[in-house]
Formats: sequence, structure tokens, C-alpha cells
Amino acid sequence: MRTAPKDFLPKSLFGRALLILILPTVLIQMVLTYVFFDRHWETVKGYLASNLAGEITFFVKQIERTPTSQRNNMAIDFEAANEMDVAFEPADSFKPSYATTEFPEFQNRLRAKMTEPYTLRRIGGGELIEIRIKLPAEVLKLKARVKRLESRTTLIFFLWMIGASSVLLFIAVLFLRNQIRPIRSLAEAADNFGRGVDTPGFRPHGATEVRKAARAFVIMRERISRQLRTRTEMLAGISHDLRTPLTRMKLQLAMLGDGEAAKELSDDVQQMEHMIAEYLDFARGEGREEAVRISLTDLLRDVVEDYQRLKSAVKLASAAEVQMDVRVSGFRRMLHNLIDNALRYGKECTVNLSAISNACEITIDDAGTGIPEDKREEVFRPFSRLEASRNIKTGGVGLGLSIARDIVLAHGGSITLGTSPAGGLRVLIRLPL
Ligand SMILES: Nc1ncnc2c1ncn2[C@@H]1O[C@H](COP(=O)(O)OP(=O)(O)OP(=O)(O)O)[C@@H](O)[C@H]1O
Ligand SMILES: [Mg+2]
Repeated sequence: MRTAPKDFLPKSLFGRALLILILPTVLIQMVLTYVFFDRHWETVKGYLASNLAGEITFFVKQIERTPTSQRNNMAIDFEAANEMDVAFEPADSFKPSYATTEFPEFQNRLRAKMTEPYTLRRIGGGELIEIRIKLPAEVLKLKARVKRLESRTTLIFFLWMIGASSVLLFIAVLFLRNQIRPIRSLAEAADNFGRGVDTPGFRPHGATEVRKAARAFVIMRERISRQLRTRTEMLAGISHDLRTPLTRMKLQLAMLGDGEAAKELSDDVQQMEHMIAEYLDFARGEGREEAVRISLTDLLRDVVEDYQRLKSAVKLASAAEVQMDVRVSGFRRMLHNLIDNALRYGKECTVNLSAISNACEITIDDAGTGIPEDKREEVFRPFSRLEASRNIKTGGVGLGLSIARDIVLAHGGSITLGTSPAGGLRVLIRLPL
């Protein structure tokens, strides 16, 4: 797979905003450094070197033309005018070993203007340069300050630049963090709401746009909660009200005796009771149950063993050790729904639990006919059954998968349908850890 440039960009808003700030700053600094130092500073350095070389050459030429008696006066004037020390030394004080390759620009210019041999070295702890020029009879020794050729401002400029950028960055990080916090808490509240967890302390704050989005979220959350409540209350109400006449019917049936008709009626009543129990379960939902940290592996093993005790063809193929926050009775109901389906519509149910980096996967496979791809979304809808007769003998109410999906979502996970290795249905549940 090719990596797009996008892969290298920070993923978080904070990181991106910071990058937007840092990138131009660094770019401006780079351009400035290039323009100022590489171009401007090089030119200035050239002028400085040329100046000093010119002064020295001029002085040497003058000295050579001046009678010895007047040299000292000339030297005094030169020292005063050019901030250099001048001294005359005997000819044997010219030592080629004093030569260095430092200050190449200056030396180039000196060589271009002056034919006399010279040596150049740094002295005085690096603060001074000493230039010895070989004259016909003696050696002219000059001392100038290095400052005349170099400047410390380069370093200071860099330090200022880095210092100022660091301060800017520090302030930016402080401000950005405050700006990002409301977005984070909105995302968290939305995520919690999706998993059926309350975020009581959430209230819109931050920049106008964020506050607007947060307010919209709060209103939406209210509306959805209200709708859910209405749905729940309605289903619960109907189911509850139906129970009373059903109980009465059961009593009356019991008084009717053991006739064939009574038996059939009693079966029907029983099925109706079962359906009503399921509606009630669905209506109640599992959202209010508290999650506890348990071993998912043990829970799965327990459920599978229940089935095995009843001689059902369910087996646990492999189970990784996984600890997670689980709403136990909801989770059990979900597993029961899925395994019941596998046994009812397929045969030989195989359950599998595997752990991957920061999630775990549960698969429930059967060896039945499976569900065609275009029906895999539809079966999750409440009361939807693939078989149209709605005959209670050949299937259930059509709530099993809806409930299962509700429960998986409440755990922050996802549930998808596929094809099992045996050709039947594979239910894949992925849960974040
Ligand atoms: N393992 C499976 N293999 C083939 N078809 C399946 C499987 N599981 C579910 N289905 C199909 O999906 C439909 C919906 O399943 P769901 O569990 O939601 O309802 P149900 O089993 O009919 O009733 P309930 O589970 O509420 O008693 C089923 O009626 C069935 O047609
Ligand atoms: Mg079912």
C-alpha cells in the first residue's frame, strides 16, 4: 500500500492547528535566514574585508614611500584613525608558521591588493588578528580587532528568533488547548450517548461554532431520549395490559380440562406469553444496566456450557483471555439470541473469541443456509423475519437480532453478518477494549 502524504499529518485537531502555526513560522525563519545571512550578510562581510584590506594596503604603500624618520608619526596617525596597533619589528620576526587560512575573504582581498608577503593569525584569546607584513628592511606588525571582520549578531539573531518562536509556540499551545477542550468534551458526550451512558456534567462552552454544535447535540439528545422513552412506555404499556387478559385466559383454559382444543389454545397462549415477554425485554432495553469488569472468556464459556448441558450442538472453538466492561445480563441475552438463531436456522454453532490489538472479536458461525447479502441489513430491523408467514413454529418474533445489535452498540461495538466457513451465517461482533 502506498502511503499518502496525509498519513504523515497529525490526526488530532490540536496537532493540525499546531502544525498550521508552526509551519509558516519555520518557513518564514528559513527564508529570513537565507535572505539575511546567505545574501545580505555575505555582502556586508565582503565590504568589511575589503575595507580593512584597503586600509592596510594603503598604509603599507605609504610607509614604503616615507623616510624612516617620519614613519613613527605616520604610524601614530594611522593608529588613531583606524583603531589598529602598529609596530615595527626586525626582519627575522617574520615567521611563515604564523600563517592561518582563517578569514579567507579578507586574505583574498589582501592578496589582490598587496604584493608583500604577510602572515595572519588570531591572538588575544581570539579577539584580535595580527598581521605581519614583510617590508624590505623590517616587519610591519598590525593588530586589529576581529570585530572589524566578523559579527556576533548572527548568533544573537538566531537566539532571538528561536526564543521568540518558542514563546509564540508556548502561547499558541496554551490557547489551542483551551479551544480544543470543548470539542473534545462534545465528542465524548456524543460517544457516551451512543453507548447509552449519561454525561451529566456536559454543557455547551467554548467558541461560538462549537457551542452551537454542542447546543444542537443537546437538543438532539433530548429528542432522541424522549422518542425512546415514548417507544418504551408504549410497548411496555401494551405488553403489560395484554398480560392480564392472558392470565385470565390461562385460568379459564385450566378449567376447561384436557381436551384437544384446549391443548392447542393453551399452546397459543403460551406462545403469546413468550412474545409479550420478548416485547417487554426489548422495550426495557439493557441501557440502564451497569457495566462491570469481568472476564469475557469466562462469560462465553459459561453460556456455551449452558447449551451443552441441554445437549445442543454448540462449541467454543477458541477463546482468548479478554477482560472488559460488560453489562452482563444484556450480553448474555445477546449471546443467547445469536446462538438460538444459529441452532434454529442452521446447525452446529461454533463460537470463537479472539483479541486483536485494542479490540476483541466474537464470531458465531453455523452450518445452515445463511442470509443472502441483500437481506443482511433488513434482518436487524425489529420484527423482521425472512420467512413471511410469521408462523411462530418456524421462527421467533423477529426481535432477536435487533436486541443483539442494541446491546452490541451499547458496548461501543459493531455487529456484522457474513458467511461462515461451513457456508452458513457468520455473526461478527467487534468490541473495543
Ligand atoms: N443463523 C441464521 N441463519 C439463517 N437465517 C437467520 C439466522 N439468524 C437469523 N436469521 C434470519 O433472520 C431473521 C431475524 O432474526 P431474529 O433473531 O431477529 O428474529 P427471529 O429469530 O425470527 O425471532 P426472535 O429471535 O425474536 O425469537 C430470522 O427470522 C431468520 O429468518
Ligand atoms: Mg432469533
